[in-house]
Amino acid sequence: MRDQDRAEKQNVIKDFNSWDRRYLQTKQLWTRRPDSKLMQYFDLVKMGEVLDLGIGEGRNSLPFAMSGFSIDGVDISAPAINSCKESFDSMNLPVNLTIGDLRQFPVKRNKYTLIIAANVLNFFSGSDIKALLEPIKSGIQEGGSIYLSVFSTLDP
Ligand SMILES: C[S@@+](CC[C@H](N)C(=O)[O-])C[C@H]1O[C@@H](n2cnc3c(N)ncnc32)[C@H](O)[C@@H]1O
Repeated sequence: MRDQDRAEKQNVIKDFNSWDRRYLQTKQLWTRRPDSKLMQYFDLVKMGEVLDLGIGEGRNSLPFAMSGFSIDGVDISAPAINSCKESFDSMNLPVNLTIGDLRQFPVKRNKYTLIIAANVLNFFSGSDIKALLEPIKSGIQEGGSIYLSVFSTLDP
């Protein structure tokens, strides 16, 4: 295995550990409320399929699922995915969840009417962000929407 591959693998293991720990320490890590900016644009999103990258506990996708969108979500943390699944199940809403690293997640071309990456890209290096933006762009159908939000240095 090349040194670079080994270092990347170790980073992935480190990410898994720290996110899992954070999710396991509390019942609800993030607010249940979806991003208010995303909700402002809710009515502009074409009915269809949503991909939520770094879905966490699912707060941003739930309102779309409640309105009939189908949801695919991916997150590196198994506890996050479990908690997300519980929320969808408690409302009898279907969801298709994957535990995995966004950097390896195969985004299907032209599949989605909305791709959400809420407060997640800020955890990646500049070159990873650049690489991630390509599948995000190609995963969107014509007329679809992309919602990106990032933490800033002013966030607590
Ligand atoms: C700040 S939380 C945001 C969660 C959710 N998007 C929200 O807004 O409530 C960041 C999420 O990104 C996930 N994450 C971090 N690095 C990741 C990676 N390399 N691949 C997939 N998910 C990752 C974490 O497990 C965590 O759930």
